[in-house]
Amino acid sequence: MKIVAIIGARPQFIKHFPFELASKGKVELITVHTGQHYDENMSDIFFTQLNMSPPSFTLHVGSGPHGEQTGKMMIEIEKIIEETKPDGVVVYGDTNSTLAGALVASKLHIPLFHIEAGLRSFNKKMPEEVNRVLTDHISDLLFVPSGIAVQNLKDEGVEQGVYEVGDIMKDLVQYVTKNDLLRDHAPKEKNFYYATIHRPYNTDDKERLTYVLETLEQLDKKVIFSLHPRTKNLASYYGLNLEDYINISFIEPQSYFSNLAYLQNSEGLITDSGGMQKEAYWLKRKCITIRKETEWKETLEDNANILLFQDLSKINDELEKKPLSYNINLYGQGSSASKMVDKIIQFIN
Ligand code: UD1
Repeated sequence: MKIVAIIGARPQFIKHFPFELASKGKVELITVHTGQHYDENMSDIFFTQLNMSPPSFTLHVGSGPHGEQTGKMMIEIEKIIEETKPDGVVVYGDTNSTLAGALVASKLHIPLFHIEAGLRSFNKKMPEEVNRVLTDHISDLLFVPSGIAVQNLKDEGVEQGVYEVGDIMKDLVQYVTKNDLLRDHAPKEKNFYYATIHRPYNTDDKERLTYVLETLEQLDKKVIFSLHPRTKNLASYYGLNLEDYINISFIEPQSYFSNLAYLQNSEGLITDSGGMQKEAYWLKRKCITIRKETEWKETLEDNANILLFQDLSKINDELEKKPLSYNINLYGQGSSASKMVDKIIQFIN
């Protein structure tokens, strides 16, 4: 049995790792890397660090306007699918690489399997929301992390092929913590908040990005900020001098282990990332999400995650309030990938 898996952006390399492990000896996996993320520290480092097989095909599509980026990916993915004739295509999450793979598979009548289906922010201005809604509606199997995601799909009339299997990123966080893999990556710094900000609504406007950075500058503790290339490029375009922010240490995008080690050793996370809201929850770190809404609503329970957007003045107070409890079963027990592989095999047979 042959499956093509489409990856392309940083979070997808991470999600692919547990799937690759669970597929071993059961499914022949052909991996297509679209090249959406291409810098060494946004791409290659994950393959090396997690000891993942190199992609079978790399498309080098790179950055560009959404239509152009997605279109270029589709042209190349179509050729690969026609050449390799897989029994199914797996796509992860909600990036442009996800949508490109999903559209091609669907048009060629190849069964499509969506990992991390059913998530909704209900904000159609986010490119990710459009990508995930469209992908869900053309998928044959939809692997969802939670009951809310099942309900979201039901509300849109999607009920067939939906399986609640837990979250694939939890598989990896459990693997890492069980094997104590963060030990050698602990940062030297202590008593800091960790930050990652890269979403368009926080970065695509000079005033907004300046407001976010000035807020971090005023926090009671030092901030270590992992700088996504999008944020770095825009800050430079706006003429912002990051060295002026003396309370913030900007660091390059981190490897998977170092990123988690920073998070685990921090006093709290400030982010607009989707995946890191969950990682903070599983590592029991308070999370402040700089957004109006979240797809990961369950993390808001017990104030483990707080949404702040318009008025960021409450960040300090909120970071200091530690949640009373964490639900250790949130988004499954860390065994979702093998459930997905079994369901896929069953579906194809
Ligand atoms: C993409 C995903 C987003 C995900 C994020 C994780 C879409 C629509 N968005 O957003 O859901 O949270 O990845 O990182 O697919 N760049 C580099 N080097 C790289 C990659 C990007 O310099 O290796 C720069 C380029 O200037 C590029 C910009 O970052 O224009 C944005 O990259 P892109 O992949 O288009 O989207 P992200 O904002 O990273």
